[in-house]
Formats: sequence, C-alpha cells, structure tokens
Amino acid sequence: MARESESGRPIEAVYGPESLKDWDPAVQLGEPGAYPYTRGVYPTMYTGRPWTMRQYAGFGTAVESNARYKQLIANGTMGLSVAFDLPTQMGHDSDAPLAHGEVGKVGVAIDSVDDMRVLFDGIPLDQVSTSMTINAPAALLLLLYQLVAEEQGVAPEKLSGTIQNDVLKEYIARGTYIFPPKPSLRLVADIFQYCRREIPKWNTISISGYHMAEAGATPAQEIAFTLANGIEYVRTAISAGMEVDDFAPRLSFFFVARTTILEEVAKFRAARRIWARVMKEEFGAKNPKSMMLRFHTQTAGVQLTAQQPEVNLVRVAVQGLAAVLGGTQSLHTNSYDEAIALPTEKAARLALRTQQVLAYESDVTATVDPFAGSYVVESMTDDVEAAALELMRQVEDRGGAVEAIEQGFQKGEIERSAYRVAQQTDAGERVVVGVNRFQLDEEEPYEPLRVDPTIEAQQAERLRRLRAERDQAAVDAALAELRAAAGGGEENVLYPMRKALKARATVGEVCNLLREVWGAYVPSETF
Ligand code: 3HC
Repeated sequence: MARESESGRPIEAVYGPESLKDWDPAVQLGEPGAYPYTRGVYPTMYTGRPWTMRQYAGFGTAVESNARYKQLIANGTMGLSVAFDLPTQMGHDSDAPLAHGEVGKVGVAIDSVDDMRVLFDGIPLDQVSTSMTINAPAALLLLLYQLVAEEQGVAPEKLSGTIQNDVLKEYIARGTYIFPPKPSLRLVADIFQYCRREIPKWNTISISGYHMAEAGATPAQEIAFTLANGIEYVRTAISAGMEVDDFAPRLSFFFVARTTILEEVAKFRAARRIWARVMKEEFGAKNPKSMMLRFHTQTAGVQLTAQQPEVNLVRVAVQGLAAVLGGTQSLHTNSYDEAIALPTEKAARLALRTQQVLAYESDVTATVDPFAGSYVVESMTDDVEAAALELMRQVEDRGGAVEAIEQGFQKGEIERSAYRVAQQTDAGERVVVGVNRFQLDEEEPYEPLRVDPTIEAQQAERLRRLRAERDQAAVDAALAELRAAAGGGEENVLYPMRKALKARATVGEVCNLLREVWGAYVPSETF
C-alpha cells in the first residue's frame, strides 16, 4: 500500500512523466525571483548569499541574554532572534502576581526601556537585523527597540528586523494573546501604518504556521491557516485606509521544517505560489515585492526526542536541508537538547554549525530551487497546493479567519490531525527512532543548563528602583494620552505609547491600561 504524505495524500512508489501530464512549467513554475515565485523570491537565491542564520535565543535577565547574543554573533550567526519570557509576552511586569515562577524562564524578561538597553548593550542596531518573537505587546517591544536605537544614535530608517505580531495564530495555537480580535487587529494596522512612516525597512509581521504545525497541523493545514490569517491582516490594513502596496512588501511569514523533506519542499513552493496569486488577483497588488512570500523557518521542535537526544542532531540536519531546498530566507535550527531543557551553549553552537555545513560544505547553495521539474516534488507541490486551497475556501465559507477562529474551526481541524498522529505513533505505524523503535535499555546521563533562580527577585528590584527614580508625572501624563487614543477610534496608538515607554512606563503598566480600555480575550470553548 502506498505510504501517505503528512497531508494525507498517497506517495507513489514511482513518479514519472505521467505524474506531470497536466503540468505547465510556464504557469506553475515561472523563473526564480519572478511571479508566481514557485522557485523562490530572488532570482539568485543562495548563489549570492546564504539564507540568514538566525538562532532564536533568550533566557533569564537581559544581561544573560546579551551575553548569549554576543556568543552567537562570535560563532557566525547572521541575525538575532529574541525569545521573551511569558510575562513579557503576556504584558505583565516581572513583579506581577501572574508572573511568579515564569520570569526569565522561556525567554528574557523585559519590563522597560532600561532592560531593553541592557539587552542590546554593545550590539550596534544599525548593523544587525533583529527578530522579536512577540505578539500581543509587539508594538511595545518594537518601540523599546527604536528608543534604544535612538540612544545609540541610530535613525529608525536604518533599523531592520521583524516582530512576529501575529495574534490570530495565538488564538488558534500558542496562546499568548491579550486583547480580543478587534482591538488586536487595530493594533496590527496601527503598527503597519507606523512602520511605513517611521521604520520603513522593518518587517511588520511574521505570519506564522510554525506553532499550528507544532500543535499538529499537517503541511496543507499549516499553509492554509497561515495564509488565511495573512488575508485577514491584509483586509484589516486596507479597511484602515492603507493601499496594499504600501504595507504588503513588509509582510513576512514563518513556517516549520519537518523531517519529511520532499513534502516540506513542496509545501514551501506551494505557499509561495498561492500567496503570489492571492496578492495579485484578490488584492490587485502591483509591486512585485507585495507578491513575494518571504519566510523564516524553524526546524520542528515537536519531532525532537528526549530519548537519545544526540539523534536530534540528525533530525535537525534533515529538517534544515528541507528548509533550504524549499527556499527559506532565514533559518533557526533547534538544539539537540531542547526536548530536555534550555539549550546549553555547546548545543546552540552545534545547531548553528549544522546550518554552516549546509551553507558552506554542501552544494545546495550552488543552484536555485534544485527540485524544479522533479516528477515527485512538482506533483507534491500541486497536491499540497490543492489541499491548502480547499481549506482556505472552508475558512472563507465561515466568514474569514477571525469568524472561523471564533467557531473553533482551525483549532478543531488541527486537533483532529494531532490525534491521528498520536494514534499512529502509539500503534508503531509512525516510527520515532529511540522512542517506539531502536530504544536503549538505559538512557545516558545529560547535564541540563541551569537558569539562575534569583532572576525574579533581581527583576523585582530593578522595577522598584525604576518606579522610584522616574518622573512619575511624565509617566502619568503619557499614559493618560495613550488611554485617550486607545479609547478613541482614529489616532495611531503607537505615538502616545512611545512617549509613555520613553518616560519609563513599564510593559505591564501599558498593557494593563489597554486591558482596561479594550478588555481581555476569553476563548470561546466550542468543543
Ligand atoms: N537577492 C537579492 N536580495 C537579497 C537576496 C538575494 N538572493 N538575499 C537577500 N537579499 C536582500 C533582501 O532583499 C533583504 O533586503 P531588504 O530588507 O532591503 O529587502 C536583505 O537582503 C535581507 O534578506 P532577507 O530579507 O531575505 O532576510 P532577513 O533575514 O533579513 O529577513 C524575513 C527574513 C523572513 C523576511 C524576516 O521576516 C525574518 O528575519 N524573520 C525571522 C522571524 C523569526 O526569526 N522568528 C522566530 C520565531 S521563534 C518562535 O516563534 C518561538 C517558538 O515558539 C518557536
């Protein structure tokens, strides 16, 4: 019996000319760097320069994370990628009751401009591109980054980087939402407008499929629900009065790379082709950059095992190869020990070295889109595209991404896929090396990275000093202006927000104010 792809389609034992009898390269393929971008967004892809090696990192206080960024830069990383702790991601100060036990745990604690200054101490912000994985409070962290750059003497138009800023996928998976969809989408539109005026090279959003994939989405579901969210953001910005070519060139995406290389390459190629056609045909984009799906990839964390962790080095190499053969612009390779704990410095270095072997020892950077014309990959590209378009139609039939989210559609589809994978794994039909086959009788010892337990107290003391030293009247006045702007419907909230943060208002104070004005999102449990 033919094996099934992750998207549930049969994989033929042999593909040949008859697999592509209806396939027209002039329509389905195009040239590299040309519409519909199936072969990649740039004409030369990696033959000019490799993808950006951008390792996601951050833990503890800003001092510790700053040290890790400097290690990564010294080891050859080409872009920064900031992980924030959950209190920061949820808009709570480190000394808030809800923050207890989470400060500095899954990322760095950032409460104010003081912490942001330490995080980038000695790192020239006009010479790096920085991704920040921050969603509901993305505007605040972007403004804090701009304020620190200003202190370094770096003009905002010189800044390059990305904020994830994709709150729709947070309602579907991952869960770091704060406000209800309507004010959240207003904030996204305000960020698009603000960046167009103030920080024109900034990628305003990283529309993510990664977390939905990690929650169980198949490749077709991953790109369908991600692109459907992208369509919702484009509609929101147009409704806010923007022209599509004014903001679309700075949209970006984020996907997973699984060990199933062939289907993953097909997935990336299908995603580029769908997005190009949506932007040109549905939104009438004229600027080619508006039709280019530029994306970051992270190797699949959910496929890492705690058993025989070194085997993950092999998985990550295979997954990284899938991302590169699929034409990613930026890549994070997971550390082999991440299924156990925060990566050790050596594990983080090995993850980066994996990319460097792919980029500088293999020949995958010598030519563009090497799978073009492949019977299997072109067939799979068409298959994944067809499956994704059908799912996008189902989202559209429910009134679009937000309506479908409120009905629990995407979440339900993903959970059904996750359940199927779990059943296949439990039954041994899906092999996980070291877990359900090829196990060891006794696992070898592993020494995890230990995070300083006094972080919470350190951050609380920093907040106490900040509140004692700052000009409280200036903070109160700026927060009052922000409250008025947020309560009104017209003014872009980032301007009064920047003023408040510059006066050393904290992340928690700003987000608590917006919670009062906009409310906090409560998911509609519909199962
Ligand atoms: N030909 C011509 N120009 C080229 C080129 C080529 N072959 N290659 C690169 N360039 C140019 C580009 O045009 C760009 O110039 P521009 O900014 O003026 O347009 C410049 O060189 C940089 O190239 P890219 O934009 O392709 O690469 P970047 O790395 O700068 O950007 C991105 C990539 C995907 C667009 C960007 O959005 C990005 O960096 N995203 C990263 C997102 C990220 O790291 N997320 C982490 C998430 S972790 C997470 O969610 C948490 C956990 O839960 C998983």
